Amino acid sequence: MSCFRCTKKSTKESKNNNTNINGNKPNHQEVNSNGNVKKELGVKKEEASKDDQLSLDAKEWNIKEEVSKDGKTNGKRAQTFTFDELAAATGNFRSDCFLGEGGFGKVYKGHLEKINQVVAIKQLDRNGCQGIREFVVEVLTLSLADHLNLVKLIGFCAEGDQRLLVYEYMPLGSLENHLHDLPPSRKALDWNTRMKIAAGAARGLEYLHEKMQPPVIYRDLKCSNILLGEGYHPKLSDFGLAKVGPSGDKTHVSTRVMGTYGYCAPDYAMTGQLTFKSDVYSFGVVLLELITGRKAIDNTKPVKEQNLVAWARPLFRDRKRFSQMVDPLLQGQYPVRGLYQALAIAAMCVQEQPNMRPVITDIVTALNYLASQKYDPQIHPVQSSRRGSSSPIGRRDDDIRQIGGNGPERD
Ligand SMILES: Nc1ncnc2c1ncn2[C@@H]1O[C@H](COP(=O)(O)OP(=O)(O)OP(=O)(O)O)[C@@H](O)[C@H]1O
Ligand SMILES: [Mg+2]
Repeated sequence: MSCFRCTKKSTKESKNNNTNINGNKPNHQEVNSNGNVKKELGVKKEEASKDDQLSLDAKEWNIKEEVSKDGKTNGKRAQTFTFDELAAATGNFRSDCFLGEGGFGKVYKGHLEKINQVVAIKQLDRNGCQGIREFVVEVLTLSLADHLNLVKLIGFCAEGDQRLLVYEYMPLGSLENHLHDLPPSRKALDWNTRMKIAAGAARGLEYLHEKMQPPVIYRDLKCSNILLGEGYHPKLSDFGLAKVGPSGDKTHVSTRVMGTYGYCAPDYAMTGQLTFKSDVYSFGVVLLELITGRKAIDNTKPVKEQNLVAWARPLFRDRKRFSQMVDPLLQGQYPVRGLYQALAIAAMCVQEQPNMRPVITDIVTALNYLASQKYDPQIHPVQSSRRGSSSPIGRRDDDIRQIGGNGPERD
């Protein structure tokens, strides 16, 4: 177990997750398993074509085997673009096209003449902490994937030492932008939208775990990686950390611990043994953020409340306090049964023992049901946020049982 991935946050977003698993500032250099700093990104042979450059990168980083064992891409290979085409699309990376910045580099909005499409272009920061390895894994994973809840990779540019990714443009930005540190002009997400986002994100994860061949562990599920389209349609993005899941009778893959503090499953953080249940834990954290409006890690809160899961665990045991967990920005506009069910799912996902966490398919079933139960504040009573039993919760025991046996502990 060694370094944690750099988690430089979008400059348009909060900076609170900028720590590694030990609570330290992230190491901006990647270190291999021998503890050696990886070599600088070399300028490749000028004569290499863009496609060849991707293959060279993959070979150099020994990646093809990991992500795309047989090299097949469902015949859907991402297009290549020249650097000049991408520069033209963004007015030479003009500041008013800037959308945000993460560990990989800056993201710009642009219009690509060649395909007449608005796109988001992510440019690898050569001084940044993520690099060519994540670029190649992202291209190979997304070339294999095709699902309504995964962001589409339109193409890439690999020219000299430039590496850029071209995605479909997601007009509403990231979930993080809609959940935390809202500007006064932005309305808080309502309950129905939150459940729709949770169900869609779960379907995206189910596709990676259950439908992809080979199955993939995402390793980077968090609010800033859930992008929102029209109508708040959610799509997972950023596959640079993805790993092919264990095969045969293996239960895990052993890797360096990478991810984002606050979302990383404790078992994976301790042992470096990555399983599909590591993603399920991260999903539980995102679901808790959706329900509570709190951040996975918030250093501005009192110590006991800084880690969302640690704050939530004792509350899961006391149903009288469930209503205290809900995001105050919902102003009491949520269904009590729905809240119980959503909390029960979150509680199961963030259990310490990975084998106690549900598989993603069961989470999808539960959340599809929850998202289909539309809440209408005109018809349903508005809840008090302070008292636990002010509302019609006569069948609350059934509510917990309905989604499975391992719900929050009850008194
Ligand atoms: N396809 C896209 N469409 C619209 N906006 C996007 C798109 N991709 C990224 N963005 C914007 O750019 C910001 C930065 O994204 P990026 O994925 O580089 O970093 P991050 O997710 O914030 O951090 P990290 O590097 O830890 O994943 C996002 O928060 C989002 O606002
Ligand atoms: Mg991201």
